[in-house]
Amino acid sequence: MEKKNVGLAKGLLSKIFSNTRKPEGFWGRMMVAGMNGGSHAAMASWGLGLVNIPTEGEILDIGCGGGANLARLMDRSPRANVTGVDYSVVSVEKSRKVNAAAIGKGRCKVLEASVSSLPFKDDTFGMATAFETVYFWPEIVKSFAEVRRVLMPGGKFLIVNEDDGLSGNNEKWEKMIEGMHTYTPGELETHLSAAGFRDITVHRDESKHWLCVTAVK
Ligand SMILES: C[S@@+](CC[C@H](N)C(=O)[O-])C[C@H]1O[C@@H](n2cnc3c(N)ncnc32)[C@H](O)[C@@H]1O
Repeated sequence: MEKKNVGLAKGLLSKIFSNTRKPEGFWGRMMVAGMNGGSHAAMASWGLGLVNIPTEGEILDIGCGGGANLARLMDRSPRANVTGVDYSVVSVEKSRKVNAAAIGKGRCKVLEASVSSLPFKDDTFGMATAFETVYFWPEIVKSFAEVRRVLMPGGKFLIVNEDDGLSGNNEKWEKMIEGMHTYTPGELETHLSAAGFRDITVHRDESKHWLCVTAVK
């Protein structure tokens, strides 16, 4: 391929994949539909299988994307209410559509909001989850502190990432998606601890480079 065409192809790919950071427009709608299946589904189920999910109360999913994990959380915790937040209008619309029945029954809410300023009172949630999203969060320690603020004392924060920062693929993605950072387990431990979390536990699937980190308020 000519150099100019290689540049155009890279630019197009970068434009398409930047929708993983903030889904917008046509490609954003394609991306959130894709996020609800494929490798995200297997990895989310793996992460959820590693923790005790509260059997009742309020659970928050931050960067909820297409809303598949809100549905998974409700399946695994039939007496809890779930709230999804995402700063992308496209993600919020898709999450609401996927969970319309539960929203109608009052078990699920989806709000447009950034992790930087969560629209909830202190000490609200028994658990907060973040699947495939912390890579994009601004000022990571402040973002984690904001998650900690809305958790109840003893509440658990679950982070699940498809790339543990040690796969060798992370540089390719970070170059393609502006503002992305793939955290290693050690980096997450340091930042969670700086935000005030305790009892930080790291789980890895070394063959797939999947990473699951839990931390307690
Ligand atoms: C790769 S998608 C993952 C979606 C979903 N959690 C999943 O696993 O399928 C990342 C999502 O995080 C959201 N996101 C990124 N940064 C965010 C922020 N600062 N506040 C709220 N949502 C954010 C994006 O809009 C996008 O919907």
